[in-house]
Amino acid sequence: MCGIFGCLSNNDNIALLMLKGLKRLEYRGYDSCGMAFLDNHVINVKKDVGEIDRVNDKVNFLELKGHLGIAHTRWSTTGKVTKQNSHPHQSCDGNISIVHNGIIENYEEIKQVLTVIGHKFVSNTDSEVIAHYFEEKLKNKSINEACIDFIKEIKGTFAILLLKQDEDKIYALKRDSPLAVGICKDKNILASDIHAFSNLTNKAIFFDNDEFGIITKDSYELFNKDGKAIEKLIKSFEWKEEETGKKKYKHFMMKEIEEEPKVVDRLLRSLDYEQKNDFGKLIELIKKSKKIIFAACGTSYHASLLGAYYLHKIGVEVQTLIASEFKHYANVDKDTLVIAISQSGETMDVIDALNYAKEKNAKIVSLVNVPYSTIQRMSELSLNILAGQEISVASTKAFVNQTVLLLRIAQEFGYGVNLKNLSAKLKNLFQQKEKIRKIAKKISQSNDAYIIGRGLTYPVAREIALKIKEISYIHAEGMMGGELKHGTLALIDDGTPVISLISNSDEDIISNTREVEARGADITIITNNPTFKEQENVIYVNTGNDGKFGLLAATAGQLLAYHIADVLGRPIDKPKNLSKSISVR
Ligand code: G6P
Repeated sequence: MCGIFGCLSNNDNIALLMLKGLKRLEYRGYDSCGMAFLDNHVINVKKDVGEIDRVNDKVNFLELKGHLGIAHTRWSTTGKVTKQNSHPHQSCDGNISIVHNGIIENYEEIKQVLTVIGHKFVSNTDSEVIAHYFEEKLKNKSINEACIDFIKEIKGTFAILLLKQDEDKIYALKRDSPLAVGICKDKNILASDIHAFSNLTNKAIFFDNDEFGIITKDSYELFNKDGKAIEKLIKSFEWKEEETGKKKYKHFMMKEIEEEPKVVDRLLRSLDYEQKNDFGKLIELIKKSKKIIFAACGTSYHASLLGAYYLHKIGVEVQTLIASEFKHYANVDKDTLVIAISQSGETMDVIDALNYAKEKNAKIVSLVNVPYSTIQRMSELSLNILAGQEISVASTKAFVNQTVLLLRIAQEFGYGVNLKNLSAKLKNLFQQKEKIRKIAKKISQSNDAYIIGRGLTYPVAREIALKIKEISYIHAEGMMGGELKHGTLALIDDGTPVISLISNSDEDIISNTREVEARGADITIITNNPTFKEQENVIYVNTGNDGKFGLLAATAGQLLAYHIADVLGRPIDKPKNLSKSISVR
């Protein structure tokens, strides 16, 4: 979703730092962006529509002077993508400037009241009411009182940074949307997540729900919803950042796919050493629980489906649910273990599912990538998947490490798989890039593609379809091979691309493949079955093990999706309408 960033420094020229910090949050949204700086008691604002670099070319953020500023990169929820709807938003008198991540649900009501008493609104956003709300309240209340009222009166979610023209401070408020303060020697930074400042400090404090704070360049005070001061522990975090920048790569997505061997090894090592205790505890919890339910969204949900498959194979009953449907389908009680799987650790639907499970006294554990994320902090026990920072919106290496962790768990219960050579097998797959690109070129000419799998490869089919959709904008359906004959077969014509995932000698999926071929489909096969190896339309995965094949087939699919999107010239790292961290329902 949107990213917010604020900085208060000893240094008078923070524009470059602000720009770099905001760029690090761009994966949260890139519809528009803006900054407000306080300079000699005047608030200066620059904002416009587009990605940060494009807007910067136009407005030159580096011209902004001052040691205190707030910034925003937007993923639109309320109000179209326009300059007026970009943040920061100002009060009528221009004395207050705000940036907001979240949704103010009762904004229309508030806007109406404020309009009647003379406030003029220039945008169609929910966020603009915040600036006017504070302007009005501050006419007869202190800022602390105004914050207390805001938390009481506002419905919805928010992480807000607020600047006042006459004060060298940033005011911050939070409910449900993430907000952290990065503590540096000569400055304080406020941001939606630790990645924004993890290159500058490894110390942070985290706002909890319905808290507000007053931050200066060398101090921070936090208060609860009643205005009572609260103590916050400073947390030290470790956040693996691979080499920064795209380096030789055209897109972060390819860089991140090629990091998979490295991050797999890092995770496996950590499960044997640094995370050994926690891993042991997780296994015990699984053994003790009467019921186990995974909750996840998007790509993480597909990893959880694979996890459910692996565990089911060795007799461990697991259910997996898309988090936004959790409360409709889960039957949860105190003997239930809910395992949340989330790259960002901030997905609102997962948080909602966990809150629901908590109300029913279930135990909560999580497998996350971003340390100290909300989901990790909500969990009794949490394992880090250690994929490192993922910048491309489409998740790749995080999916791989989620799946590796699930395979490791299954291994503890007797699932036979050798993970030690996995990174070598991944590297091996990368050598087929040319062949994959050739296949991708062909698929890129179609409007639709179908990906079929069975059992182990069904989740992989769904994940490959998701990857194709999100980055190439080609409609793709990932489905169970067995379901073809119940409807989808009607859509198969001469030349329709069908990607078939054939594990070993799964006769049933081979039959499904023949069925579509007989109707003219243009078949691509991803398989570990050596009999297909030499065919031109085959991406061969060299492993006899089904568990590993699932994972490697998904990476083959990532490469295929990447090349389809690249042939079509899509903005691969920042697909339209999407965001990496989904903090709305
Ligand atoms: C967004 C991202 C996906 C991700 C999903 C779930 O849609 O673009 O890549 O799989 O959210 O996110 P999570 O952070 O919970 O894994």
